[in-house]
Amino acid sequence: MIYFKDGKFLEEDEVHVSVNDRGYAFGDGVYEVIKIYDGALYTAQEHLERLIESAEKIRMAMPYTIEELGEIIQKLQTENEITMGHIYLQVTRGVAPRVHQFPESIQPVVVGYAVENERPMHYLQQGAAMKSVEDVRWLRCDIKSLNLLGNVMAKQEAFDHGCQEALFVRNGLVREGSSSNVFGIKDGVLYTHPANNFILNGITRRVVLQLAKNLNIPVEEKEFTLPQALEMDEFFYTSTNAEITPAVTIDQQPIGQGVPGPLTRKLQVAFDAQIPMLVASGNVEERESNGPAS
Ligand SMILES: Cc1ncc(COP(=O)(O)O)c(C=O)c1O
Repeated sequence: MIYFKDGKFLEEDEVHVSVNDRGYAFGDGVYEVIKIYDGALYTAQEHLERLIESAEKIRMAMPYTIEELGEIIQKLQTENEITMGHIYLQVTRGVAPRVHQFPESIQPVVVGYAVENERPMHYLQQGAAMKSVEDVRWLRCDIKSLNLLGNVMAKQEAFDHGCQEALFVRNGLVREGSSSNVFGIKDGVLYTHPANNFILNGITRRVVLQLAKNLNIPVEEKEFTLPQALEMDEFFYTSTNAEITPAVTIDQQPIGQGVPGPLTRKLQVAFDAQIPMLVASGNVEERESNGPAS
């Protein structure tokens, strides 16, 4: 596996990160996960733009232009010959003796690598279980920062209860998943939390909102409560790796019929159809023929 670090493409045993890296000490950095479908990067531009925005929000200088970052992630894909998987790209503020305030004139550290993984076909087809968890994270969830302890704790709590994803609830309101955005469907209307400081504005979330528009599904970006979520006809969560995963239970209570719903299916089919690499490779057919009837 070839890694990227600070301008060089290296073998794993050649990549070294300092214990004084502020990412290691403080989680002082930002990151992105970019999907690869059949050898091609998906929505890379949007991810890189968000990376730059996240860096700006934590007042960190980005050492590369968006074009250079694009070349780096492309090379990680080709060098590692990844067909299905993702690129992980992270930028930390740099290396300095441990003091909280920003040290002067340090260089950000950029690390990237590629991961081979399959699409989560089982959960895409059968649906997944969610567990509600109190959202105790900070109030800048719009930043894709390395500070993920709140997310990690929530995901583990969900796993401990046999669920695949946590559903964050803050002040009684449903916010997002531990590593995903969430959507509910009630009486044909698609509901999701507005893009503000309480959630990360997911790239997949944006794709889904566009697909809903194309399909003439009415959308309301507004907050809803956990009891309202439980009363939805359909529910799903979205992320780069989870794509559009139907949530068939929340806290062990079935949502709608307790199976992936028809509008969720419609959005999944539309999602596949807008990825040229998937259409070309026949992955769409696989989903449609194997999945429960919509
Ligand atoms: C907290 C959180 N919300 C939402 C998302 C979904 O973002 P995206 O669709 O860009 O992967 C993620 C992805 O990791 C996340 O960690």
